[in-house]
Amino acid sequence: MNGMADPSTPNKQRIEVRDLAKRYEVGGRRIDALRGVDLMIDQPGFYGVMGASGSGKSTLLHLLAGLDNADEGTMLVGETAVNELDEQALTLYRRRRVGVIFQKFNLLPTLTALENVVLPGVLEKLPPSELDARGRSLLEDMGLSERADHRPDALSGGEQQRVAIARALFFSPGILLADEPTGNLDMVSSDRLWSVLERLAGERKMIVLMVTHEAEAAARCRQVFVLRDGRNAGVIDAQELDPSELAARAAAVAGPV
Ligand SMILES: Nc1ncnc2c1ncn2[C@@H]1O[C@H](COP(=O)(O)OP(=O)(O)OP(=O)(O)O)[C@@H](O)[C@H]1O
Ligand SMILES: [Mg+2]
Repeated sequence: MNGMADPSTPNKQRIEVRDLAKRYEVGGRRIDALRGVDLMIDQPGFYGVMGASGSGKSTLLHLLAGLDNADEGTMLVGETAVNELDEQALTLYRRRRVGVIFQKFNLLPTLTALENVVLPGVLEKLPPSELDARGRSLLEDMGLSERADHRPDALSGGEQQRVAIARALFFSPGILLADEPTGNLDMVSSDRLWSVLERLAGERKMIVLMVTHEAEAAARCRQVFVLRDGRNAGVIDAQELDPSELAARAAAVAGPV
């Protein structure tokens, strides 16, 4: 198998964010992107992040992914204090512990789907036979066996995003972070992608944390964390809500969009 977590072992998937702050300086002007955000997820599942444009959603995901440093606060992912890792540990954390997908699929245009998927393993010099087996198994899981030799420009947007997911899963991370993953997709492809994310959270016992503006997506989540102006605005238990109820609830706490 491709190192999938054994469902019978106790699960340590957990994200605990405390008082997280992040500032940017642009042209001498200070921007407080996050002003003390808390977030607690202690069981696997599909979770959402919503909030108006500029409320800090992408910043939060970037920090959790280890792509940028926080100015204040703590982030525990599993047992790892992400903000205390040195450069080398951070590189391994990014590669092995968290998967990340973005609105732009960020595939390398000159590589095939299969070559894109196995890139994390190439960086760790895994043997070619293992790369091939893992890569093909992941593509199969994403319904893309027939597309292994296609370059990104010969794939639909939905297919490209599923290749990006397969790459993000290469080392079977416990956590998948998704920043508006369907922002460039039509409704049918978006719906299919949300189903994939929901299924992964269930089957692989992962925490899937997705930033979205779509109520249809958020309504599939267990909980939705709403940000407003770099702060927590509320947590919505989304499971029992239909999309229109969820949209109304989110708008009520998120403030003017
Ligand atoms: N690299 C950066 N340099 C300077 N300012 C930044 C940077 N990244 C984000 N910001 C600012 O930080 C704030 C939060 O940005 P962020 O991208 O987290 O918002 P968001 O909630 O993801 O918005 P959107 O829904 O538009 O994607 C914004 O005011 C933004 O302009
Ligand atoms: Mg964003």
